[in-house]
Amino acid sequence: MASLLQDLMCPGCRRAFSERPARTYCLECSRTLVARYDLEAAKERMSRDRLRARPPDLRRFEELLPLRDSSSRVSLGENETPLLKVSDPELAPGGELLIKCDGFLPTGTFKARGMAVAVSKAKELGFKDLFVPTAGNAGAALAAYAARGGLRSLVFMPQDAPESARTQVALYGGELRTVPGHIGDAGRIGREEAKRRGAFDVSTLREPWRAEGKKTMGFEIFWTLGPEGMPDVIVYPTGGGTGLVGMQRAFSQLQEMGWLAKVPRLYAAQPKGCAPVVEALKRGREKVEPVASPTTAAAGLRVPSPFSSEDILGAVRSTHGGGVSVPETAIEPAARRFMSTHGISVARETGVALAGVQLLRQEGAVDRSDRVLVYNTGLWMG
Ligand SMILES: Cc1ncc(COP(=O)(O)O)c(C=O)c1O
Ligand SMILES: [Zn+2]
Repeated sequence: MASLLQDLMCPGCRRAFSERPARTYCLECSRTLVARYDLEAAKERMSRDRLRARPPDLRRFEELLPLRDSSSRVSLGENETPLLKVSDPELAPGGELLIKCDGFLPTGTFKARGMAVAVSKAKELGFKDLFVPTAGNAGAALAAYAARGGLRSLVFMPQDAPESARTQVALYGGELRTVPGHIGDAGRIGREEAKRRGAFDVSTLREPWRAEGKKTMGFEIFWTLGPEGMPDVIVYPTGGGTGLVGMQRAFSQLQEMGWLAKVPRLYAAQPKGCAPVVEALKRGREKVEPVASPTTAAAGLRVPSPFSSEDILGAVRSTHGGGVSVPETAIEPAARRFMSTHGISVARETGVALAGVQLLRQEGAVDRSDRVLVYNTGLWMG
C-alpha cells in the first residue's frame, strides 16, 4: 500500500493529531478531523498512465486514502460506477445532464465508499467492534463490510427507517436496535452502548475515515470526465453532508496538485421538511440550526442537525455553490419521471436532487450554459 497520509488536523483549532491512538473528532471544537497527505509526492506517483494500469476501484486512488496495510483492506468490489449522459430538456435545456450512479456499489448506495475505507482503517487500527447510528443505508453498508472483515457491527436506527435497510443489517449479521425518533436520537442512545463495548464510532463526520472514502466520488468524476469535461455544477442530496465534504476535499486536492483548474459549484439539495444545511446557507450562518420536527420520506436526508456543520457549509461556500430545498410532493414524481424516461434507477433521495435542479434553474442559480451533474446516491428501494 502506498498511502501518503501524513496526519490529521482540526479545522477549528488547527491542531495536528497523529492517527494513533485512534481518534474520533476534535473534542474541543466538535469538528471533524481532516486527513492530510503529501500532495507533492502524490503528484509524482499518480500519473494518468499509472492510474490506468490499476484495478478500477478504490485502490486507484490509494495514495490519497488512509489505509497503510493491505492485509487490513476490507472490500466487496467497489468498482468505478457509471457516469451517464442523458438528454433531458426539462433538467438540461441547454445540453446533456450528467448522472453519476452509485446504486451499483455493494449494498446499493454510495455509503459503500465511506464504509469500505472506514471499516478497513478501523481494522488496521485494531478495532473489533463498530457502531453507527443511521437513517438506514449507512447501517446496511456497515453491517456488510463488518461481516466481510470479520468484525462486529452495532447499528442504531429510527424505528420508522426503511424496511429494506433494517432487513439488510440483519441479513449481514449486524446487531440492529431500533429507537423512537430520528437519527440524532439513535446516535444519542446508541453511543452509550457503543462506549460500553469499546466500539469505534463511525457516525457521520464524527470520525475522519468515512469522509476520506467519499473523496472517491470526486476522484472518479474527475477520472471519468477529465479536466476538460468536468461539470460546472454538482447537485447532491444532502443529509449528514459527508458526500459534499468528501467531494470538495477531493477537488481541492486535485486543484492543489495542479490537475484541476476549476472546482465545480456544489449545491446541497434537501427536502423542505428537513433542510438545515440549505437554511444555514441562505441565512449566511456559520452552523446549522437544528430542525425540531424533521419530516421527509427521503429517509437518508432526515438529519435534523448534522455534525460539524461548519465543514459542510464551508465545503459548499468554498466552491461558490449553494442550496435548494424541495417540496415533499415534488420528490417522488421527480424520481419516477426520471426512471420512466431514462431507465435509470434513482434513490428517493436522488429525487430531491432532480427536483432541485429544476428549482435552481427557475431561480437562476444555474443557467442554460451550466453543465450539471446530479449525484445519484443509490438505487430505488421502494
Ligand atoms: C441514498 C442516500 N442519499 C443521500 C444520503 C445523504 O448523505 P450524506 O450524509 O453524504 O449527506 C443518504 C444518507 O443516508 C442516503 O442514504
Ligand atoms: Zn479543534
